[in-house]
Amino acid sequence: MKVNPKIVAPLIAFGIAAGIATIAKTVRPAAGGEVAVELNLTRPANAERGAKLFDTSCATCHGTSGRGMPHQGANLRDSRFVAGHDDRKLIAFVRTGRTPDDPNSLMKLYMPAKGGVASFSDNDLQDIVAHLRTFQKSDPRLAMAKPATVQ
Ligand code: HEC
Repeated sequence: MKVNPKIVAPLIAFGIAAGIATIAKTVRPAAGGEVAVELNLTRPANAERGAKLFDTSCATCHGTSGRGMPHQGANLRDSRFVAGHDDRKLIAFVRTGRTPDDPNSLMKLYMPAKGGVASFSDNDLQDIVAHLRTFQKSDPRLAMAKPATVQ
């Protein structure tokens, strides 16, 4: 078969570009991972306020106890993901949410960005994350949990 180099060269170039794009996608850290995130935090966290916000939004899927509602939300009390990420990373994670195709996906369900409350500010999310920490403190097993290696 006679191969026309005018066609083959762009095809090879396209193949290389697609390969690079795939690799770039693979090494890119997941949301809430090692990416430097800009957060607009103007005051210290308020866990009590966070509890109220959590109960009126996140609790629909995660339950007021944070144990997770069946087929709706993950357990946040025993979560190594929560235990293994610092506050800033968790805020960034909640801001973005998670899609079912995320490598960290637990339930193959959507975790909506900001729990579906678009008006939540970074300060609001910081309060909510402070409330998540109180769940963890009450669970002695997590005191022993090694920081997760998840990104
Ligand atoms: C509509 C349901 C829903 C709402 C509302 C919701 N979540 Fe989620 N969340 C999920 C689901 C489902 C997952 C698990 C996604 C997966 O990995 O499959 C999840 C995962 C998470 C995780 C990661 C847990 C882990 O161990 O990986 C955190 C943290 C989290 N949610 C926090 C929140 C916070 C904070 C709020 C409120 C601002 C919230 N979620 C609101 C459904 C929800």
